[in-house]
Amino acid sequence: MKEILEQIKDEVREGFKKAGMDEKYAMVTLSNRPDLCEYQCNGAMAAAKEYHKAPIVMAQAVAEQLCNCEMFESVEAVAPGFLNFKLSGTFLADYAKGMQADREFFGMEQAKNPETIVLDFGGPNVAKPLHVGHLRSAVIGEAIKRIAKFAGHKVISDVHLGDWGLQMGLIITELKLRKPELVYFDPDYTGEYPKEAPFTISELEEIYPTASGKSKEDEDYKAAAMEATHELQMGRRGYRALLDHILNVSVTDLKKNYENLNVSFDLWKGESDADPYIPDMVKKMKEDGYAYESEGALVVDVAEESDTKEIPPCMILKSDGAALYNTTDLATMVWREADYHPTRMSYVVDKRQEMHFVQCFRCAKKTGIVSDDTRLEFIGFGTMNGKDGKPFKTREGGVMRLSSLIADVNEKMYEKIMENDTMTEEEARKTAGIVALSAIKYGDLSNQPSKDYIFDIDRFTSFEGNTGPYILYTIVRMKSIIKKYEASGKSLEDLALLAPGSEPEKSLMLSLVKFNSAVRNAFEESMPNRLCAYIYELANAFNHFYHETKIMTEEDENKQKHYMALLVLTKDVLEKAIDLLGFSAPDRM
Ligand code: ARG
Repeated sequence: MKEILEQIKDEVREGFKKAGMDEKYAMVTLSNRPDLCEYQCNGAMAAAKEYHKAPIVMAQAVAEQLCNCEMFESVEAVAPGFLNFKLSGTFLADYAKGMQADREFFGMEQAKNPETIVLDFGGPNVAKPLHVGHLRSAVIGEAIKRIAKFAGHKVISDVHLGDWGLQMGLIITELKLRKPELVYFDPDYTGEYPKEAPFTISELEEIYPTASGKSKEDEDYKAAAMEATHELQMGRRGYRALLDHILNVSVTDLKKNYENLNVSFDLWKGESDADPYIPDMVKKMKEDGYAYESEGALVVDVAEESDTKEIPPCMILKSDGAALYNTTDLATMVWREADYHPTRMSYVVDKRQEMHFVQCFRCAKKTGIVSDDTRLEFIGFGTMNGKDGKPFKTREGGVMRLSSLIADVNEKMYEKIMENDTMTEEEARKTAGIVALSAIKYGDLSNQPSKDYIFDIDRFTSFEGNTGPYILYTIVRMKSIIKKYEASGKSLEDLALLAPGSEPEKSLMLSLVKFNSAVRNAFEESMPNRLCAYIYELANAFNHFYHETKIMTEEDENKQKHYMALLVLTKDVLEKAIDLLGFSAPDRM
């Protein structure tokens, strides 16, 4: 369905034209004085300048043309030259009926020119447990993925594992020290390698921090790890076999963790998958004259004249020929381009990595890895801080594992739910998990991605205020009314929306009908917080309606059916909206 604001603009344009003015003055916005009107247009004041008349005269002329439209309940020209609009109840009800009939999209139009978007998010590093730093990428990326798909675009999500850097060499080095007899370390071995990994996930998770700690103290150890990394990258068979084991063990575990977060990926590729594309890419960069040697390393200049700060050259290979973070990201673009021909590649990554992406993006465009019209988008997110305003840490000051954070929030939710004492322990645990996820995700997504935010467990788990649990609580309230309605022997089949008969009904409808524009906005700006703002407004509007309206005791049957229709539509739209954010509501809480 055409967005409601667009429909209003169309109408107002006609009004301006009929009043003898250019339609470009028909700029309509949501009212910033909701006490006076619902939508407004300030264009008559600008028009007055061109046509040399008093603004109020211009506004009156337009109002006269529009006052008989079915769309408006009232059109007022107000000094000095504002146009104030109130929508007619039937127009609103018709719009809401259109949403109701569109069970899948609730009036959200599918993209006319669908994009193909490769969405890079998650970005965990294998063999390292997920920590809170990985939370935002997963949560924001998943929401952006769902929103883009819902808007009709094709999205290919890729987790882009960190599996080609020093951490691999560290693990290999430590493993060699512990089990030198393993065939992986025998350079003369030519047979097949065992299918079974020589470690479990818990061993792996212990090996990496141990190795990383040692390398900071011991120069020789670090040198050995760097050498092992290099040999791995140069294709040493035994090390490649170990990498495969590390990947298998790690990915199984990561998948479980992401599943718990309701996050999924189409592709589980890693930096190492870019390796085969590096030699040709480098060769071409050299042949085309873009890559040159500087102090032994191979670099591509990416500075531009208009730069206001220095953008250093993009380093493609180290002097020993080793690949860098840039190298794998660029070579990853090579296969993404070849396999998917995307119109856009988007990266949901910590904003502190912005320079890396500026360099890579420029290098990719300059060297022709991606075409000029491929959009490269960096969706940089801010840091998740603790209440002290510093990056979130454990009580002891260490890096917090994501699983611990989730467990903490689950526990807190469980306690709250048990306070009400209406559930069995089992149901309470299950419900706590669902509500906790909403607390974590909504707490994150309701902020603009690029901003830092404070992870405040007390606030996020509260049933009041702009929180996930408040939204779920509102949905659960609706579900319980629906159940009661059905239990009284009435059917949901013949509900029918009417024009709103009261202020709370109307403001609920006015909120409802903005769904498509909220989703479009969230998509266009890659900002799920736009959708959160819609959700919060809608939940508030519903609760206002609920407190002002006797739904169950309404004696006028048609009125009651209308209330229930409004309630069911609001519930469906809210559930769709939170689904786009990557969480869901329980039946009770
Ligand atoms: N693994 C990286 C990290 O933990 C994030 C990867 C982001 N994606 C990318 N294509 N570079 O910092």
